[in-house]
Amino acid sequence: MKHLIDPMDLSVEEIDQLLELADDIILHKEKYQEVCKHKKLATLFFEPSTRTRLSFEAAMMELGGNVLGFSSADSSSAAKGETVSDTVRVVAGYADIIAMRHPKEGAPYVASRKVDVPIINAGDGGHNHPTQTLTDLMTIKREKGRLDNLTIGMCGDLKFGRTVHSLIKAMSRYENVTFVMISPEELRLPEYIIKDVFERNNITYKEVRTMEEVMPELDILYMTRVQKERFFNEADYVRLKDSFILDEKKMETAKEDLCIMHPLPRVNEISTKVDDDPRACYFKQALYGKYVRMALIMTMLGVSADEN
Ligand code: NCD
Repeated sequence: MKHLIDPMDLSVEEIDQLLELADDIILHKEKYQEVCKHKKLATLFFEPSTRTRLSFEAAMMELGGNVLGFSSADSSSAAKGETVSDTVRVVAGYADIIAMRHPKEGAPYVASRKVDVPIINAGDGGHNHPTQTLTDLMTIKREKGRLDNLTIGMCGDLKFGRTVHSLIKAMSRYENVTFVMISPEELRLPEYIIKDVFERNNITYKEVRTMEEVMPELDILYMTRVQKERFFNEADYVRLKDSFILDEKKMETAKEDLCIMHPLPRVNEISTKVDDDPRACYFKQALYGKYVRMALIMTMLGVSADEN
């Protein structure tokens, strides 16, 4: 793996190895604190981010490396009209590995064709978000003990939500995973994912319009924010933004060991009252994101704790 652009760039075996390494990092943090000494990670964020950018930066720091970068297009030369390709070519001379987020689908892919330095897609428009997927897989593995034999409900903005698109692709490779898609008609999963992933691989899935009708079946409930920034008009956003709100009442019919996930940021699709429920896993999920990014950076840079 030279670059990580799409979750399918990783084989199931590579994912297993990354999750194993991330688990070991949690257990033996001291073993890893200098493995990336003198290495630099550049975070090029042309779109807002809290968790992804800061967890990447914290990850590199905890490995003993350094970070540089920018956190908005306005504070980079993109504001002067520089192309992504030019920016990346230049930064490749300053850093050993690059994590990049961009509002345009395919921008990290285009960047990866220009340079030898490994490029990680940290989210491209409504398309993919492979490192969130690694975070999600790590959460599922640690909370449920397995990545197969699960019924996973995905709720909210399934049309524009890149975390959903990437997680579906990755989970489609495990045995006996059933997908339940919960969204308003206007925000349903894009047809290309239904065809290319579900139908092509004979995966069991259904689409429903309420949470209540499926709540008791779910092992995992993946909540998402309605992606305001991808809407063409404000009125549609306002009409759809509160389509689904998970609250204590809806939790009453859920399994005792349901795992509630959310890539965050939350707007109001999960009531804060649910936060104290032991089934709420979303803050743990954000923390796992740091460890799995540590594992990813090490793997892409080809460093290991044993050499030290
Ligand atoms: C997600 C994203 O950027 O796609 N956030 C994240 O990386 N944790 C989800 C979102 O913005 O709704």
